[in-house]
Amino acid sequence: MAPMVDLSHEPYRELVRGYGGCDRFYSEMLNSRMVPTENREKSPYLKWAQLDDLIMQLAGNDPARMHAAAERLAGFDPCGIDINMGCYLKKVTCHGWGVALMKDIALAREVAAAVRSATTRPVSAKLRIGYALDTAYLLDFADMLVEAGMDFLVLHARTAQDGLSRTARWEYIAALKAHVPVPVVGNGDVATPQDAVRMFQQTGCDGVMVGRQALARPWIFRDIRALLQGREAPEAPDIQSVIQRLAGLIEAWFDAETALKRFKLALPWLASNLKFGHHLCKEVNRAQTLPQARDAVTAAFSAGMC
Ligand SMILES: Cc1cc2nc3c(=O)[nH]c(=O)nc-3n(C[C@H](O)[C@H](O)[C@H](O)COP(=O)(O)O)c2cc1C
Repeated sequence: MAPMVDLSHEPYRELVRGYGGCDRFYSEMLNSRMVPTENREKSPYLKWAQLDDLIMQLAGNDPARMHAAAERLAGFDPCGIDINMGCYLKKVTCHGWGVALMKDIALAREVAAAVRSATTRPVSAKLRIGYALDTAYLLDFADMLVEAGMDFLVLHARTAQDGLSRTARWEYIAALKAHVPVPVVGNGDVATPQDAVRMFQQTGCDGVMVGRQALARPWIFRDIRALLQGREAPEAPDIQSVIQRLAGLIEAWFDAETALKRFKLALPWLASNLKFGHHLCKEVNRAQTLPQARDAVTAAFSAGMC
């Protein structure tokens, strides 16, 4: 399951685990300036219950800070550490973080080496195609990452300019997989179990990362696994119970204010399964507390609004 800001948290992971889980979860990107000194007792970012399936993602471009942050995270013994070299948002790239690192191969090498030297756990980098449709540049950049000790690479098959629009360019995943000696995880536009199987077949990738559709359908990994094993997928769960289950998990995990914010952010994804999901979101957005939000969900379903 892909890293997603304010959504890749323990309650969502627990929700996915309840529907069969997935092989690896990513944390949302964690700010390398903040991680070394962040107070674990108070921070909503450094909170987890299960680490053996969790890869923690770091954002930053200062090798020393990235080293210190990776060292602290590695001390918690996660499943691995990932370097964000793919985020295209201005608020991230303006610091030289995310996909901006793909412009500066020398600095990206230093960052990769700094994180590598902080831990013996697996280290990966999540990248994009880059700033241009230039296969040779992507493959050179990937060679550098492998030389710097990355254990595997994740490719979101879009350019920086593509953002999240236009169809993902899976042919770049195939090119990367054919070129590097380490495992490659493909990412971008897997919306159904059939898409996941197609990505494996068309690109030869070793793993498939799912983002938005995992928020909408937290059971998608179970269904992908079923399709890969030639089994029939179980019926999709009742969406009202999925929403209430997530609300309960969020309520138990975060302080009241954060809980309400996280629930309101998550709801549109789950509500996308419903014909009148936008009505549900409108009702819930008026709520001042999470219990009120949960009541609004119950009322909307009882009124047949959804
Ligand atoms: C709300 C949201 C937040 C995201 N946050 C991150 C992030 O923190 N780190 C990252 O590497 N990618 C982030 N992404 C990108 C996703 O990890 C993924 O690469 C992208 O959504 C494409 O995959 P998909 O088509 O399966 O959604 C985010 C995407 C979304 C929609």
